[in-house]
Amino acid sequence: MIQTTDRHASSATESSTNGKGKDPVLWNDWHVVAKGVDLQPGTLMKFRLLDTDLVVWRGEDGQVHVWADRCPHRSVRLSNGKVEGNTLVCSYHGMVYNPEGQCIKVPAHPSYPPPKQACVRTFQVRERYNLVYVCLGEPEKDVVAFPEWDESTYRCYLTGPYFIQSNGYRAIENFLDVAHFPFIHGGILGDLDKPEIEDYEVVINEAGVFAKDIRVWQPDPYGTGVGDYVIYDYWAFRPLTAYLRKYSPNGDCLTLLYNVTPISEEECVAWMSGSLNYAHSISDEEVQAFQDKIVLQDLNNLESHFPKKLPLNAPLEFHVPSDRSTLMYRKWLKQLGITYGIL
Ligand SMILES: [Fe+2]
Repeated sequence: MIQTTDRHASSATESSTNGKGKDPVLWNDWHVVAKGVDLQPGTLMKFRLLDTDLVVWRGEDGQVHVWADRCPHRSVRLSNGKVEGNTLVCSYHGMVYNPEGQCIKVPAHPSYPPPKQACVRTFQVRERYNLVYVCLGEPEKDVVAFPEWDESTYRCYLTGPYFIQSNGYRAIENFLDVAHFPFIHGGILGDLDKPEIEDYEVVINEAGVFAKDIRVWQPDPYGTGVGDYVIYDYWAFRPLTAYLRKYSPNGDCLTLLYNVTPISEEECVAWMSGSLNYAHSISDEEVQAFQDKIVLQDLNNLESHFPKKLPLNAPLEFHVPSDRSTLMYRKWLKQLGITYGIL
C-alpha cells in the first residue's frame, strides 16, 4: 500500500457531512469500499463514500454488510462496535443489530421489544473480483464486467487502495490520458524522445466513452531492451469506472479495471484490477510493486490540480488534439448531468 494511506486515516476522523452530494448518477452507481480479503469474517471497518460515513462488516457466515455508520439510539459510530456472530453490537449501550439492520436486543431491558424505528440504514452490496461494491441508492445497472477475471489464460491481480487527495474525475482523466506518459513515466510507459500522439478516434455510445487504437511508443514493451509501439483502447463505462486494454502485435495483452471511489468532492480512493496474458514468471509482488510505482509517479500532479473540481462549466483550461479522450469524457459527464465534484 502506498504512502497516501495515513493521510486518509486522519481525514476520516473529521465530522461527517451526511446528506451532502446526492448526485443521482453517483448515488445510484456502484462504488468499491473494500477489498474482500481485508474484511475477514467477524471484522468491521469504516469508510466514507460521497461524504457519507459507512460501517462495512462481514458476519461469521461470510456475508458483507454496508450500513450508515450511526447507531439510531444515540447517534454514535457503529464502527466503534464489534461483530458478534452475524450481528453488529453498538459499543455504547450494547444494542444488537441483526443482518437486516433491525435492533433485536436492548441489554438494559432484556424483555423490552425494540421499536420498529430502531433500525440502521442499510445499503445494497455486491462482491466481485475480490472487491466489495456498495450502492447508496437504487442501482440502475450491474457492477461493471471484468471478463478476464475468470479467464484461465490471464493472470489477475488487485492493487490499491490508493488514497488520493484528488477529485475522482481527475483521477479517471489521468487514467485516460497517454500524453503524460513520457513526462511522468519516462523510461517505462513513454519516451521523452517520442512524445508525439497521433490522432485517434473517440466515441460516446450506450456503454460510455470509447477511445480506440491509441499508439504509444514505449522504450521496452517486451523486456528485450528494444522500443516499439503498443496500442491502447480505453473505455469509461461509468463516471468513475474506466478500463483499458493494452496490446501488442505479438499477442501480449494487459487489461486494467480502474475503480475510483469518491470520498468527497476533492478526495478519492482508487483500486486497480489487472490482468496479463504474459509475464507469468514474474511474481505477484513484482507486478503489484510496478503498479504502485506508476500510481505514485502520478500523485504529485494528480494532487496539485487547482481547482480540484472538474471545470465542466468554466472555461479555465485549454485543450489540444491529444486531449480528445478526456474532452469526450467531459462531454459525456455533461450529458449525464453530473453535478457532484463539478465546477
Ligand atoms: Fe500516469
